[in-house]
Amino acid sequence: MGFTVAIDGPAAAGKGTISRAVAQTFGFAHLDTGLLYRATGRKLLETGFSPEESAKAVVPEDLERDGLRTQAVAELASRVATIPEVRAALVAFQRDFARREGGAVLDGRDIGTVICPDAEVKLFVTASAECRAERRFRELKEAGQAARLEDVLDEVRKRDARDMGRSDAPLRPAEDAVTIDTTDMSIEEAVAVAEAAVRAKLEEAI
Ligand code: CDP
Repeated sequence: MGFTVAIDGPAAAGKGTISRAVAQTFGFAHLDTGLLYRATGRKLLETGFSPEESAKAVVPEDLERDGLRTQAVAELASRVATIPEVRAALVAFQRDFARREGGAVLDGRDIGTVICPDAEVKLFVTASAECRAERRFRELKEAGQAARLEDVLDEVRKRDARDMGRSDAPLRPAEDAVTIDTTDMSIEEAVAVAEAAVRAKLEEAI
């Protein structure tokens, strides 16, 4: 039986950590859909293909490659993500993943609204831009990447504006999503709220 958990939200709100924890706790597979857009951006740089051709050329192994998590690739990803043909080329892969046996967690921007409108659980994970910039700044420092907090905040705001303002699949909570604002929460608390929402739906499904 398929069971899909859709987790959406802006950059650095805690989606990734929550998704990995939920997947591990319930034994579900996990897809970070941002990697599809990042890999598309990188394919475009490496091949000179059009954005649409680049999206069609992405294979699962591309998601495992190093270097996808840099700020530069994130910026490129959010640009190609505004192109409807790119988004369309990536739909089938995400929907197949979502309905796999044994359950799946997908995190991104449009999972609950466009990719999996029938997901059993929909979460919208958010936090203030300042808080997200600080978290991303710490992550970058820990990964040994040079960055200034002001620049990271600026980048977070620009990406929010692009993700929320685009006409195709803009970032917004699905009507039936549970919103988790992690600004004043520890990651453990946020994970606990997410897991409680999943557990409640799983109990209903039995
Ligand atoms: O990890 P972070 O939240 O910084 O970025 P990401 O989830 O890897 O996504 C990078 C970019 O891809 C986002 O800024 C979005 O523009 C785009 N994206 C999207 O449009 N739809 C998705 N389902 C996932 C990512």
